[in-house]
Amino acid sequence: MIRIPKAEYARRRKALMEQMEPNSIAILPAAAVAIRNRDVEHVYRQDSDFQYLSGFPEPEAVIVLIPGREYGEYVLFCRERNPERELWDGLRAGQDGATRDYGADDAFPITDIDDILPGLIEGRDRVYSSMGSNPEFDRHVMEWINVIRSKAHLGAQPPKEFVALDHLLHDMRLYKSAAEVKVMREAAQISARAHVRAMQASRAGLYEFSLEAELDYEFRKGGAKMPAYGSIVASGRNACVLHYQENDAPLKDGDLVLIDAGCEIDCYASDITRTFPVSGKFTDEQKAIYEVVLRSQEAAFAAIKPGNHWNQAHEATVRVITEGLVDLGLLRGSVDELIAAEAYKAFYMHRAGHWLGMDVHDVGEYRVGGEWRVLEPGMALTVEPGIYVAPDNQTVAKKWRGIGVRIEDDVLVTKKGCEILTGDVPKTVAEIEALMAAARIQAA
Ligand code: GLY
Ligand code: MN
Ligand code: MN
Repeated sequence: MIRIPKAEYARRRKALMEQMEPNSIAILPAAAVAIRNRDVEHVYRQDSDFQYLSGFPEPEAVIVLIPGREYGEYVLFCRERNPERELWDGLRAGQDGATRDYGADDAFPITDIDDILPGLIEGRDRVYSSMGSNPEFDRHVMEWINVIRSKAHLGAQPPKEFVALDHLLHDMRLYKSAAEVKVMREAAQISARAHVRAMQASRAGLYEFSLEAELDYEFRKGGAKMPAYGSIVASGRNACVLHYQENDAPLKDGDLVLIDAGCEIDCYASDITRTFPVSGKFTDEQKAIYEVVLRSQEAAFAAIKPGNHWNQAHEATVRVITEGLVDLGLLRGSVDELIAAEAYKAFYMHRAGHWLGMDVHDVGEYRVGGEWRVLEPGMALTVEPGIYVAPDNQTVAKKWRGIGVRIEDDVLVTKKGCEILTGDVPKTVAEIEALMAAARIQAA
């Protein structure tokens, strides 16, 4: 299985510590376990920043980075081994595992953190943490600081500055390494197989959840623990609800079905949308709208290369979609004026994409110094234009109403342009119809 190698976590910690101001300390908590109901927990997913720096998969852990510390720069607080708990809940690394398998220079029981951490903070000028995202942990940090303050009369020196860790860490996460790209390609390929399987299985009389089951089957078969976000399987007019999640309506002959789903591998997301006819054949109106969305996506790909800025891909989709809507008679007027008035937003109300990585809507600034960010090799993003004709849109002919189409792929900015990571799912009308027709012949 393709995974981030251990050495990469060490490289990341070193790179972060090199950027920290002299005489500082960084503190990051693992994700908390979330209760689903009574004795049942949600499937555990490590916090992305914590995972990025450690690869340590357990809850109840805290990373402490102390650049220049003589007795080790990387300290990990984690749960102790406990044969009885491990019998019920599974193995724990313990302190030996933390140093042996996860590269910690020093490891302590999490239950000792209140006694040990103030001593590690004391004398450091600055504390880096992700303030604001975890109020309970922020409170703990303040308690540890207050322990030091209470000893000031004995000569203890509390830190003077608190710095948000996010800026440094999230800028690192924006640039994907070769190892990260490999994992993201793997996630993309598994998700591509899942979309193909859903297209092949589609029949009127099944339900949206029937196709979700096909997706989940390929995700799990590929080694993914879970989807990177709640899968959207939206047939007919449900496709016009952007974050539709019910996935329980019957699939009807003549309708389209929009599937937005991607799996996660080693905490890296993929994010694919395909829209196809339930019964394998597009109507004239569905095809007309589909081809506008597809052309707009191609225009966006052409705008993704080093030196271009973040918004150029979006602007390309807006122009092609507005032109297409005018050609089809869904909008009337001059294309430039319609773009200036944002008339397309009645049909295309979201942006063309987002950064992609450990979080499906990944971290990283979209603007720098007030300007759109310039694309550079190693950045990964989605390209996901769409057209959604609201079922109650009285300004367009009835035949268009309730059609919703989105096409979404994941791309990596390369030296010369971009690489499409999710190209293994058919996308043109002809390709989709051919795949679905072949699946029907096989099933007959
Ligand atoms: N699946 C969420 C998105 O496409 O942004
Ligand atoms: Mn998506
Ligand atoms: Mn997306």
